[in-house]
Amino acid sequence: MKQPIVLAIESSCDETGVAIVQEGRLLSNAVSTQVAIHQKFGGVMPEMASRLHTENITMVLNEALENAKVKLEDIDVFAVTRGPGLIGALHVGLQAIKTLAAIYDKPLVPVHHLAAHIYANEFVKPLVFPLLAIVVSGGNTELVYMKEHLDFQIIGETRDDAVGECYDKVARVLGLPYPGGLPIDRLAQTGTPTYKLPHPLNDDSLDLSYSGLKTAIINLVHHTKQIGEEIHLANLCASFQQRAIGMILEKSQLALDRYPVQQVVLAGGVSANSLLRQQIKVMAETRGIDVIIPPMWACTDNAAMIALLGERLYHKGVVSDLSLGADPGWSIERITSFNS
Ligand code: KG4
Repeated sequence: MKQPIVLAIESSCDETGVAIVQEGRLLSNAVSTQVAIHQKFGGVMPEMASRLHTENITMVLNEALENAKVKLEDIDVFAVTRGPGLIGALHVGLQAIKTLAAIYDKPLVPVHHLAAHIYANEFVKPLVFPLLAIVVSGGNTELVYMKEHLDFQIIGETRDDAVGECYDKVARVLGLPYPGGLPIDRLAQTGTPTYKLPHPLNDDSLDLSYSGLKTAIINLVHHTKQIGEEIHLANLCASFQQRAIGMILEKSQLALDRYPVQQVVLAGGVSANSLLRQQIKVMAETRGIDVIIPPMWACTDNAAMIALLGERLYHKGVVSDLSLGADPGWSIERITSFNS
């Protein structure tokens, strides 16, 4: 029997993506990134993001179809990121996919963006349960426990800023380009952690906090300028990275002490971080737990992961009618609830 061909659209932030998957196999994965444009503003401009998605979506769709050598008539299932993300940006993908599902009279599958980041690890190898997913991105920082497929429990999360957001704000105050994760990570590798920084939520909860760390760096930079001294950029980046990633590692250790876990996976944009990738591997191996580190291409936003999870959801019967709306704050614990 022919397995369904799934086409997915991702437009939750500043990447327009279209991908096609069949039986877990990636037939194509087209992405158009807006980073260069948002860079001029030092962060994502939501209105601009929506406009650029609208301008780019047809081109990215055609590229994905051409690369997969399929036609729209061949697609059996349409999947889309419904949330979380920027509301205007989400709407572009949603309207496009609803139009396609209506024209071709095919099922429509709503996909949770962060759950898809977790499932992107299945491009490496199968998920094994129970599992701890460390979800770290520009908009979210969560420790997610999964007892089985499609079952997500948030066991710890940031009480304020996301870790990626903190990287981006710190980069801005240090005069580094947006997005700030990679430039800070690179500089940190050349520095020594000599600066003393606060250690927020140094307690036995599984929650994290980043706003105090961000404020401490802003104050430190202003104070240093005021007294006419120079910042040692590489050392400050190394100190910040040690603390920012250290918090994730500490809370992950606590989670592993408390929950039975067979596998640890990283998910989201900050999983590209060199220190995090290296240290999570060491942590899991020391405990004899399996680990998946996503390939770099899967750390940034892409539609391949949306198509992969969309395919799994479709086989579970998770489909929506055409009244589907976007949900910028959709909780990962409710990925099969989307009726407005
Ligand atoms: O998953 P993503 O696109 O964010 C959301 O959609 O919310 O991830 C983007 C975030 C940005 O904040 C960026 O600075 C961060 O991931 N990032 C990194 C690294 N590469 C990207 N953070 C730390 N170290 C990196 N190497």
